[in-house]
Amino acid sequence: MNGSRILGTGSALPRRIVTNAELAERVDTSDEWIVERTGIRQRHIAEPDETTGTLATAAARAALADAGIDASSIGLIVLATATPDNTFPATATKVQAALGCNGGIAFDVAAVCSGFLYALAAADSMLRTGMAKRALVIGAETFSRILDWDDRTTCVLFGDGAGAVVLEAPSGEASGKDAPGIIGTRLHADGGCHDLLYVDGGPSTTQTVGHVRMRGPEVFRHAVVNLSSVLREVLEETGVSVDEIDWVVPHQANARILDATARKLGISPDKVIVTVDRHANTSAASVPLALDTARRDGRIKAGDLVMLEAMGGGFTWGASLIRL
Ligand code: UT7
Repeated sequence: MNGSRILGTGSALPRRIVTNAELAERVDTSDEWIVERTGIRQRHIAEPDETTGTLATAAARAALADAGIDASSIGLIVLATATPDNTFPATATKVQAALGCNGGIAFDVAAVCSGFLYALAAADSMLRTGMAKRALVIGAETFSRILDWDDRTTCVLFGDGAGAVVLEAPSGEASGKDAPGIIGTRLHADGGCHDLLYVDGGPSTTQTVGHVRMRGPEVFRHAVVNLSSVLREVLEETGVSVDEIDWVVPHQANARILDATARKLGISPDKVIVTVDRHANTSAASVPLALDTARRDGRIKAGDLVMLEAMGGGFTWGASLIRL
């Protein structure tokens, strides 16, 4: 039986746009280097009044409006983030309060850039077992707050934002790759790679928030291998061929990772949604943000077969095949 259905999508971006040229005034970098190595041209950076919680709430409202449903019918909120408003309570509970749908289930998921895929799978599993009828699954980040703005190897790569989907429990009426809903999902983690991408702080270790540290080229190599392998797993599990996929919505870390992964699998670059040029890497927000962008600009339509995929700190990685 197919999993939960996506009823609507939404996203939110901070007001302020920061170009590569502006960053080059601060650290030893250039627009040319950033564009050539990553494909990034600009990113949105949160102002002090914009937080993970406010961006998540705005994205959630947009997704509810798109789905045409009221917040009161949401019984579950799963929010993926590595940059919560506070160490606790979960930012999901702040979103719940802001939307005025208190009483259901609300919690955060920490799987960094793969967070949205993990949150989607968690929400889908809970909806399937009847714990709620409708869910909001949100990826939201203010990575700008954990960047070392003097480290040119990381500070040029990330941006802030949020994306959300409204998910409805499966009706049980239709199944298979032609029916709407989540068709197949695979998730993985390899804690042995912790030191290649991490934050050097936290409440239980340094009592500071810390900064992002990354061994970029090593992460790059793992990303291409892990992503192509998990995409193959989902295709095999669901019996879907590469040619049947209408769109791939990847985590937006680096345009070269998107190209290399698509090439490895024989996916046409025309089918890959790219927003990294405008949004940079927004971690857990990047997949739902790209999905919403491509739905709103008319590329992704109802009935399309869409593959979501992501890889991030942990390492964690995963993919999910969905008929919209
Ligand atoms: O979202 C989670 C997953 N994250 C990722 O998937 C990120 C994966 N990694 C990457 O995207 C790439 O490895 C980076 C974009 C981070 C780096 O690109 P690269 O082509 O792997 O460059 P590199 O790290 O090998 O550095 C090449 C050169 C170095 O100089 P030397 O040693 O050759 O003289 C760096 O110091 O580029 C230098 N460099 C820069 N130069 C200008 C590093 N960062 C910058 C910069 N501006 N911002």
